[in-house]
Amino acid sequence: MSDTGRDLERAAGFLQEARSVVVSTGAGMSKESGIPTFRDAPNALWEKFDPAKLASEEGFLADPPLVWQWYEERRRMISTAEPNPGHRAIARLEPHFENFTLVTQNIDDLHRKAGSRNIVEMHGNIFRYKCFNLHHPIDTLPQDERVPPRCRCGSLIRPDVVWFGELLPEQAVERAYTALRKCDVMLVVGTSGVVYPVAGFPEVARAHGARIVEINPESTAITRVAHIFLEGPAGGVLPELVDAFLKRKAA
Ligand code: APR
Repeated sequence: MSDTGRDLERAAGFLQEARSVVVSTGAGMSKESGIPTFRDAPNALWEKFDPAKLASEEGFLADPPLVWQWYEERRRMISTAEPNPGHRAIARLEPHFENFTLVTQNIDDLHRKAGSRNIVEMHGNIFRYKCFNLHHPIDTLPQDERVPPRCRCGSLIRPDVVWFGELLPEQAVERAYTALRKCDVMLVVGTSGVVYPVAGFPEVARAHGARIVEINPESTAITRVAHIFLEGPAGGVLPELVDAFLKRKAA
């Protein structure tokens, strides 16, 4: 058996012994669904666009229509994307554990579309909106010619996503840390591990005794914290890992 095969079996063994599991996903999870990532070439979003202009409060206030339209284009592109076999594999894994928490940095809603349930969205969701001034959710966009449209309080409406320099949703952070402190195994999929606080999650879980398995075509800032590094795309490695786990469980 190849080293990769042995590592995959070891990781499946970790899952077989686990009662509580956390899966943490980043942009790489959705790359095979046609959604570009932020930092890895080609087509890295932050190589083509300036995050300070498009993903910050200052950038939004400097040019609200520019930011609003950029998110409209992204929303249109993402709304045509489908979950890939990696998303579906994670959904298959969920019912097999007492505690299973899916912590995602992705705003594309593909995990929910794939059937996952206990999802913690750390950076919001591109299909949701909120009031810029008061931060309350906006369920239905008002009929308003202005770009961006205005809330009934007169404030601009913005996408309900976390921009650089902003705090993450409190409830999401609480749910994530509760799960990290009690998990036996953490799968870290498709993240470069450079954006905090999520980049620090594997170390928190490991400090509480969890075993860390990373899945990525390239090594990252997280690889040094991982017990096992499974080199490859999420859409290929995750179905294999889940099949190996289910085979062991059935044996
Ligand atoms: N399967 C798994 N991983 C992949 C794949 C794939 N098919 N293709 C690429 N990757 C990996 C890359 O090697 C890289 O490590 O996905 C990672 C993507 O990294 P980033 O683009 O930095 O995305 P992410 O870590 O999710 O960014 C974190 O930064 O810009 C902000 O808010 C944004 O949530 C985002 C955060």
